[in-house]
Amino acid sequence: MAAGKGTRMKSKLPKVLHLLAGRALLQHVVDTAAELSARRVVVITGHGATEVEAALSGSTKATAGFDIDFVRQEPQLGTGHAVQQAVPALPDDGMVVVLSGDVPLTRADTLHALIAACGGNKLALLTIDFADPTGYGRIVRQGEVVQAIVEHKDATEAQRAITEIYSGIMAVPAARLKAWLVRLDNKNAQGEYYLTDIVKFAVADGVPVVAHKIADALQVEGVNSPVQLAALERAYQKRIALQLMEQGVRLADPARFDVRGSLQCAQDVSIDVNCVFEGQVVLGEGVRIGANCVISNVTIGAGAVIHPFTHIEGDKPGSKGHIEVGAGALIGPFARLRPGAKLGDEVHIGNFVEVKNSTLAKGAKANHLAYLGDAVVGERVNYGAGSITANYDGAFKHRTVIEADVHIGSNCVLVAPVTIGAGGTVGGGSTITKDTPAGALSVARGKQVSIANWTRPKK
Ligand code: UD1
Ligand code: CA
Repeated sequence: MAAGKGTRMKSKLPKVLHLLAGRALLQHVVDTAAELSARRVVVITGHGATEVEAALSGSTKATAGFDIDFVRQEPQLGTGHAVQQAVPALPDDGMVVVLSGDVPLTRADTLHALIAACGGNKLALLTIDFADPTGYGRIVRQGEVVQAIVEHKDATEAQRAITEIYSGIMAVPAARLKAWLVRLDNKNAQGEYYLTDIVKFAVADGVPVVAHKIADALQVEGVNSPVQLAALERAYQKRIALQLMEQGVRLADPARFDVRGSLQCAQDVSIDVNCVFEGQVVLGEGVRIGANCVISNVTIGAGAVIHPFTHIEGDKPGSKGHIEVGAGALIGPFARLRPGAKLGDEVHIGNFVEVKNSTLAKGAKANHLAYLGDAVVGERVNYGAGSITANYDGAFKHRTVIEADVHIGSNCVLVAPVTIGAGGTVGGGSTITKDTPAGALSVARGKQVSIANWTRPKK
């Protein structure tokens, strides 16, 4: 269910598209469904339907293992009405798991347990005890047996004292669900079609209703406001941080650490405060990440050190833009690695150096204030401070090749396409427009002139 408005977000963006750990709330729910090997996922949209559908259209059979069916609920007349819209998309022989697009952190193992409780012939409700159950539907039992869910607004004082609430998540046989949905009405305090009314029908039809009660509130918490979104984000990050620390990763402060994707760490990785990891990041053994780094889509080799304030912004693994940093490399502080940077072992990239779509072989160094774009740099090259590859002529990008053991002086402009021959040296301040021979010293700059005994003009 993802048709609700989310008024309290006070945002133009539909609520379920707000990001938690870099992924839309609804995407979390769909990804969890993928872990259940769902036959299909039906997303019920309403508010911002076009935008929501567009945002999810990337989850196809190829990536998620199922096709997403979208059904529209317009207007929104309650959760029962929402599920009614999905009926044509639900095969009779299936089990239906009802999830909310704004409850992102339910775990697949919890849902597996719920599905097992349903067993294909019962109605299984995911429930939890809340010290303050205000606003939620209460689980009304007679003895142990569940009789009904009563919404807060419809509940008597005695029912409001019940602390066991319905999470909004259930597993139910499709054929039963369909039969019950047609019996819903909206004669209640909110004038809505309540999905929760099907519990009464199950009881009346002699279908067992089982409550699967969990203790972890995080798994059933919904997002209604920016405050709740931030709280869930922190809780999620803490969960990831604890998992990593249990594997041996040293986090300077688990409260100042963010993963928006996946972070895989070998032994003895340490990460200082305020780092953000995006996409798929793989850190080799003994990698150290300094404070305040933003690191996305990169594989970093063993023993490499990323000094503070470094920004690594790769594209997805498998794409041309994915970034590689070799073993023992030293990067930063204040370095910027852009898509397609492939750095070999023991490469050094220093402060204010930008590398884009360039390969640097083992031991190459660019330590200060430099730009390497569309370049192929050989082993042991030393690339001087302030030097740049002029790779763009205003229409096309061109390649610069710097062969092994070249020394590029400071403040050089290498106008691509151009090749600097192996072992060559380029004098500081040169603008190189033609290929240079191996082993040569190439200088391309105005000759120095000194005029003796020069007298400066006087006022
Ligand atoms: C619902 C349950 C309540 C439960 C609570 C848990 C009903 C009647 N009540 O409360 O027992 O304790 O969830 O959070 O089901 N939605 C639609 N279309 C609609 C209405 C809602 O798609 O017409 C979606 C919302 O976007 C949301 C979900 O359904 O994702 C739940 O809606 P919400 O209004 O938060 O649930 P409540 O009715 O408050
Ligand atoms: Ca709610």
